[in-house]
Amino acid sequence: MSEFAHLDPGVRDQLDLPSAERAGRMLAERFITHERLAPILNYIEFLIHMPPQTRASGLVVSGNPGSGKTMLSRAIQRRYPPTPAENGNVATRPVVVINMTNAREAKTLYNRILSEFGVPDPGNYSGNDRERMALKLCRTASLRLLIVDEIQDILTSTARQQRIALDTIKFLMNELSLPILTLGTSSAPAAMQVDEHLNARFKYRELPLWRRDQFLTNFLDRLEKALPLRKPSYLSSPTLAADLIRLSGGVLQTIMQLVTHAAAHAVETGEEQITTNLLERAVFEPPLAAAKQAALQAGLQMAA
Ligand SMILES: Nc1ncnc2c1ncn2[C@@H]1O[C@H](COP(=O)(O)OP(=O)(O)O)[C@@H](O)[C@H]1O
Ligand SMILES: [Mg+2]
Repeated sequence: MSEFAHLDPGVRDQLDLPSAERAGRMLAERFITHERLAPILNYIEFLIHMPPQTRASGLVVSGNPGSGKTMLSRAIQRRYPPTPAENGNVATRPVVVINMTNAREAKTLYNRILSEFGVPDPGNYSGNDRERMALKLCRTASLRLLIVDEIQDILTSTARQQRIALDTIKFLMNELSLPILTLGTSSAPAAMQVDEHLNARFKYRELPLWRRDQFLTNFLDRLEKALPLRKPSYLSSPTLAADLIRLSGGVLQTIMQLVTHAAAHAVETGEEQITTNLLERAVFEPPLAAAKQAALQAGLQMAA
């Protein structure tokens, strides 16, 4: 077997980097298409590619804070990036993401869509103009999917405001034959079910807390291959998998933090593999030097 078989081929090259820089690399944000995400992404692709439907449908993805909903929306945006205007073709914007936090009126929703399209001072438009402008921009940009994050926030508003928010979403779906992906905490399904017509058009999927199962094993195996450590850690071994669930409570964000911080410690201490001790150390000691190095690398890349 080749040396460093525990790493992806592209990651092996990073072993030649100076240690400080390698420790910094551990903290770079990485997106892993784990097995719970794959069917969700497939369904989203299906929604995007379906010919426009009179009754557009949608998907609600719910999960605890830190379960990866916003990362999912970023991954979809990366997969369907905007295209600039060229050769007589107009610019397109296949995916737009808006956040429902504190959106109490239809106006706010439209303003957020307009801002996404780069309209300056959308607050200056009057009601009808604002709505017309939003519809026009969505059509011109060939919008194929609207993502609405933090949908559960509407539950903190009055019944009337909730109806307005959901009516606006329904209106956009109908007028533009536009599929919608809504993201939110475990209260997200309840927020959507306020409107039974809307509810009937949506499928519901969850990003649950992680536990010790095959999903976790496969996820940890993929993650380990992406972290440039000289020695294998066997993250998915019963001991380390149990440590990770114990220390994180099954929250993906915490699992990622523990593993990547412990990996940075492993480079700095020269241990070159993640151990129970380093995971426990990662709980209370953030890898400060590695973070500074990561910031430096990001800065250099930006300047390059
Ligand atoms: N698919 C993924 N691959 C790798 N890390 C992830 C993934 N999804 C989430 N994470 C980690 O969890 C953190 C929180 O994710 P986020 O999408 O902001 O959660 P949510 O929106 O559900 O609160 C991210 O910063 C990242 O570290
Ligand atoms: Mg989020």
